[in-house]
Amino acid sequence: MAIVGAGPAGIYAADLLTKAERDFELSIDLFERLPAPFGLVRYGVAPDHPRIKGIQNALIKVLDRGDVRLLANVDFGTDITLEDLRHHYDAIIFSTGSFDDARLDLPGVDLPRSYGAADFVNWYDAHPDVSQEWPLDSERVAVIGNGNVALDVARVLAKQADDMLSTEIPHHVYEGLRDSKVTDVHVFGRRGPAQTKFTPLELREVGLVKDVDIVVYPEDYEFDEASMAAIHSSNQTKQVTKTLTDFTLREPTGASRRLHFHFLHSPVEILGDEDSGVTGLRTERQQLDGNGGVVGTGTMHDWDLDAVYRAVGYFGSPLSQIPFDASKGVITNVEGRVHAGDSQAAAADTPVIDGLYATGWIKRGPVGLIGHTKGDALETITHLIEDRNAGRLPEPEEPSEDAIIALLESRGVDFADWDGFHRLESAERALGEPQGRERMKIATRHEMLEHSRRQ
Ligand SMILES: Cc1cc2nc3c(=O)[nH]c(=O)nc-3n(C[C@H](O)[C@H](O)[C@H](O)COP(=O)(O)OP(=O)(O)OC[C@H]3O[C@@H](n4cnc5c(N)ncnc54)[C@H](O)[C@@H]3O)c2cc1C
Ligand SMILES: NC(=O)c1ccc[n+]([C@@H]2O[C@H](COP(=O)([O-])OP(=O)(O)OC[C@H]3O[C@@H](n4cnc5c(N)ncnc54)[C@H](OP(=O)(O)O)[C@@H]3O)[C@@H](O)[C@H]2O)c1
Repeated sequence: MAIVGAGPAGIYAADLLTKAERDFELSIDLFERLPAPFGLVRYGVAPDHPRIKGIQNALIKVLDRGDVRLLANVDFGTDITLEDLRHHYDAIIFSTGSFDDARLDLPGVDLPRSYGAADFVNWYDAHPDVSQEWPLDSERVAVIGNGNVALDVARVLAKQADDMLSTEIPHHVYEGLRDSKVTDVHVFGRRGPAQTKFTPLELREVGLVKDVDIVVYPEDYEFDEASMAAIHSSNQTKQVTKTLTDFTLREPTGASRRLHFHFLHSPVEILGDEDSGVTGLRTERQQLDGNGGVVGTGTMHDWDLDAVYRAVGYFGSPLSQIPFDASKGVITNVEGRVHAGDSQAAAADTPVIDGLYATGWIKRGPVGLIGHTKGDALETITHLIEDRNAGRLPEPEEPSEDAIIALLESRGVDFADWDGFHRLESAERALGEPQGRERMKIATRHEMLEHSRRQ
């Protein structure tokens, strides 16, 4: 079987497949387009969250068992195609996640210094395909969105670079953060304080960042009946609003940076022009509608700002020849079985495509924690095993383990294997060691592959 995408969803699917009760032989190849596996655990989770980054250790244990073969630096769609995989495997699971920003359709969204959160995250997490330069020359920046990615972006922008020095960030990220001119980070939520998507731990953490004053504005701090119901019914909402209430009681300490939370402000336009870039953000004041939503009041506010970061969610990308719902950014599927057509809503009424499966964010959209991809994987592989047992998987013409390697070699694909990842990992640990750090990330494809290959 083939799994495309070695993020947590793909690795959990491989793990569950190898452990599942079954009466057939199994051999699994795990394809990954980057030189290193782990998806957003490596290139999304913030570097100052070492505990969550540590989930990699559990994923490493799965691949260390040796019953799943990693073929990294292989891109589905260019290096290998659906036809190739059909030729060699009876089942193919797609777990390609989401790596782009969801589009925010606002006038001015493409102005210079209007940034997608995913681009900034890729930079500070040392993604090998992005530039090592990030312009942190703005003093007043907005972060649009009230989810955990907005919190990550706001925290990394507000934090002093020296407080990131114990993490795995490479030199160029440290230097970029050290030279940052930022003084004020304004986080904008379009709904109220009881409707954020922050999680309690992550919100409390921003309140602990050194040399940062947190500001919450009393005029934004509104709760209606629906808010109160949410607080009473959800422990998470209760904890988040308690933390926000604690923030409202804080006095300024004269810290060198400030993090402002604005609620009930929906962005309507990013202000500026092509020559000057972003000069501000226009928001429309919202009012709670009693049902957990908001309605616009027609009152506009213009905020003087020098840059805007849009953290309004990630979005999945289509894969060549695989049915895709472009409005939801997911592979068309029912519980992980791929169906024909481009509408997820209508998927149940379209034919199943035998032997194709999806799991993780590309199956159900870009929401949820790493742990949630385990449940996804279980549902998907349960259907896969049912289909295998019912004889519904297509017979591949050449199911040999060597044939796919020969194919990649014949195409000159410079693939990296699991031993190669261990060599890369040792090199990253060696780079970090002199500074007392667990590791320092290597940030270019070329260098990553060089270390993977070194014997
Ligand atoms: C910025 C950010 C921070 C986050 N922080 C946390 C956190 O602290 N804690 C937490 O629990 N959750 C966090 N999450 C959520 C978590 O990252 C996701 O739940 C999880 O990574 C989704 O797993 P996945 O395997 O579906 O996708 P991904 O992790 O995106 O993995 C997909 C993999 O597929 C590969 N791929 C894509 N296209 C191809 C192709 N064409 N060919 C071959 N391979 C391909 C990608 O390179 C990637 O390795 C965060 C998410 C983001 C965006
Ligand atoms: N440390 C962690 O545990 C961690 C860190 C990062 C990410 N994650 C997880 O990864 C997943 C993705 O996180 P995310 O922050 O990208 O997504 P998210 O949780 O869905 O949050 C997206 C935010 O963007 C807002 N938004 C969307 N469209 C908007 C618009 N047009 N105008 C203004 N605001 C808009 C949403 O507001 P509405 O609610 O009003 O739609 C919401 O506040 C989440 O499950 C998250 O918990 C976890």
